[in-house]
Amino acid sequence: AFVVTDNCIKCKYTDCVEVCPVDAFFEGPNFLVIDPSICIDCALCVPECPAEAIYQDTEIPDDQVHYISLNDELSQKWPVITELKPAPQDADEWNGVPDKLHLLDK
Ligand code: SF4
Ligand code: F3S
Repeated sequence: AFVVTDNCIKCKYTDCVEVCPVDAFFEGPNFLVIDPSICIDCALCVPECPAEAIYQDTEIPDDQVHYISLNDELSQKWPVITELKPAPQDADEWNGVPDKLHLLDK
């Protein structure tokens, strides 16, 4: 499955959800996750993300591996999102800031 990683936090552009053919994205307050049991590995979402935050689980950078279980866990409790919505006003300021996990709102 594909996995949303650190750089989505506080960016949350939501371009990814528009292309997903199986509605695999789930929305928290400042982050999205993919339900690995729904994702069909089509890879369509990867180039849509302005934050380059989406990776296949088999190719995920070593320092992002903990996001695999986090996507699984949070997708079970957050609501599905299928339509683009405006990004946070300061999204561009957070794009590229490393290690935002402590800023994740659950
Ligand atoms: Fe959806 Fe395809 Fe991205 Fe999986 S890889 S979340 S199926 S768009
Ligand atoms: Fe996040 Fe990128 Fe989607 S920032 S909301 S994974 S477009």
